[in-house]
Amino acid sequence: MVDVIQRVLDDHSEIKHAYERVQATQGEDADKWLNQLIWSIAKHAAAEELEVYPLLDKLGGQAKALADESRKDHQKTKEALSQLDGKKVTPETRPQIDRMMEELLQHIAMEESQDGDLDVIRKGLSGDELLEAGKKYEKTRKMVPTRPHPDAPDKGAFQSLTGFLALPIDKMRDLFRSFPDEAQDLH
Ligand SMILES: [Fe+2]
Ligand SMILES: [Fe+2]
Repeated sequence: MVDVIQRVLDDHSEIKHAYERVQATQGEDADKWLNQLIWSIAKHAAAEELEVYPLLDKLGGQAKALADESRKDHQKTKEALSQLDGKKVTPETRPQIDRMMEELLQHIAMEESQDGDLDVIRKGLSGDELLEAGKKYEKTRKMVPTRPHPDAPDKGAFQSLTGFLALPIDKMRDLFRSFPDEAQDLH
């Protein structure tokens, strides 16, 4: 069993790896890695917002303030991702990707820092609670398709990355609850 802290760290590694590949490749390869990067970030952001930040909200006080700050950071990243939606890696988009990632890497470093989001959760929850949250995190993460899919229940929501990113959190939660188990086969 993998706890929620490790799940988040694994996602952060996946995002960093995809970005490194975007930087190291050209042409179609770079485009594929950009697509991978964008969806890795989208899935991670949704899983954190649905399963991690509410844990901080529950702890209250400074923990809740951290979650609020993190949600603001995510909003910025989502706006930057929407700008990149459907674009290829070109001399024009590379600086755009770098700017988005510079901010996101700062956000990730904050989450992983001492007294940051993960540290506060680690200290505030029991071992069992961390494992339980890890399970929920993985389930939610798997419900986000890696690309728009014609059989998705709410076509409007999943037809584009922008549509997905624009989903209010409550709507996303309801949508995921109504998502069939076969959703996992979308990957
Ligand atoms: Fe985050
Ligand atoms: Fe994160």
